[in-house]
Amino acid sequence: MKKIVINGGHKLTGEVEISGSKNAALPIIYACGLVKGKCVLENIPEISDITYSFEILKGIGAKIKMLDRTTYEVDCTDIQPCCSDYDMVRKIRGSYYLLGAEFGRFGRSKVGMPGGCNFGVRPIDQHIKGFEALGGNAVTEGGYVEITSESGAKGANIYFDVTSVGATLNIMIAAAVADGDTVIENAAREPHIVDCANFLNTCGARISGAGSDVIKIKGVKELHGCTYAIIPDMIEAGSFLVAAAATRGWVRVNNCIPKHLESITAKLEEMGAQIEEFDDAVQISCEDVELKKTNVKTLPYPGFPTDMHPQMSALLCTVNGTSYINEGIYENRFRYVEELKRMGAKIKVDGRIVVIEGGTQLSAAPVEATDLRAGIAIMIAALAANGQTEISEISRIERGYADICEKMRSLGADVKKVDLPDPVDTRIAN
Ligand code: EPU
Repeated sequence: MKKIVINGGHKLTGEVEISGSKNAALPIIYACGLVKGKCVLENIPEISDITYSFEILKGIGAKIKMLDRTTYEVDCTDIQPCCSDYDMVRKIRGSYYLLGAEFGRFGRSKVGMPGGCNFGVRPIDQHIKGFEALGGNAVTEGGYVEITSESGAKGANIYFDVTSVGATLNIMIAAAVADGDTVIENAAREPHIVDCANFLNTCGARISGAGSDVIKIKGVKELHGCTYAIIPDMIEAGSFLVAAAATRGWVRVNNCIPKHLESITAKLEEMGAQIEEFDDAVQISCEDVELKKTNVKTLPYPGFPTDMHPQMSALLCTVNGTSYINEGIYENRFRYVEELKRMGAKIKVDGRIVVIEGGTQLSAAPVEATDLRAGIAIMIAALAANGQTEISEISRIERGYADICEKMRSLGADVKKVDLPDPVDTRIAN
């Protein structure tokens, strides 16, 4: 069993390079499914969600060539719809973008229900509503979602009931090659939506308004290949800033877009951290400051991201006073709380609010990465804790963080990945 072992108590200091954005790379990789031709994608993060996505595309006939560690040529000229591997698809959430790509290009798609982190119910009703507006007939049966239309996707006006990153991207992808014009209202505004629109436009799509809550798409007949570099990962960058704060160190995160990090840097500054912004880097220093408690509410972009909630909780455990985190996106993103409690954190959940009595010294314990961001939060807590923490289920962390142990070690952390034997089952069979 692979585990991450962390000896806490070392300040993070130094510079770290941020990888490409997981949540931008995923829709862009599937959007290549619209293109007859070769797309060269640069700044692809080396994480397992991407490996699975390439396997899913290869399984339906795509040719994928690795040009270097972070650059891939994706050729979806010969893909066939409705035949993706059920078990692969359900490993990750981003696989649902195949619905938009197949339905847009072929007028039919059948894809297994997506997987992803367990935050309680994660419905896809807004995706379905969007596909139906584009003329699709949607059937959810036997673990699959099937969208079909004899005459193909048709442009439409869609008003989402909920601001959804996934639904906005899925409908934008399908509508890029639909017959006629589409307007998406109450669209999500995350930087990854802008990035996917920029990619599609580079391939010949006509999308405007991405980054605002109204996206207009003039459907085009065909897209062509292109070369495109994925934006840096704002959540990876934010995670390193928070890790630096939790260990009272200083870190410069290079290859990031400071604008995308504003809700995070503003909160850290409010807590007393010293933040310096450069063109494509942000530096945090917490060496000579006393951090103050704070309250956070997670919201769609440009609000404070839900994907930074567990990391902030871990940081606030190290700060004197009572802090509150109000989870505004997911009904149950709290499984990490029990793990932090094992490490001595005084933390509890009240409805959708996490209450943190900070300032007690965290201590090492065997803990589990209950999901991707929970896993990095526990790593952050372990960096600040006394003693040696062993983290299990680390594949959940590797879904979204490239070379995480190497990057943390380069900042002075005592972190290693070890292959420990599975614990012997000591239960007596009777
Ligand atoms: N929702 C609905 N109906 C839908 C879609 C969403 O009710 O049809 C609700 C969800 O239940 C949730 C809210 O709307 O309460 C927002 O969900 P959204 O659709 O925006 O999330 P997502 O597309 O499933 C992506 C990221 C998540 C990130 C969220 C929010 C990917 C592959 N996943 O998920 O990333 O938390 O947006 O920003 O892009 C992560 O990276 O750790 C992660 C979980």
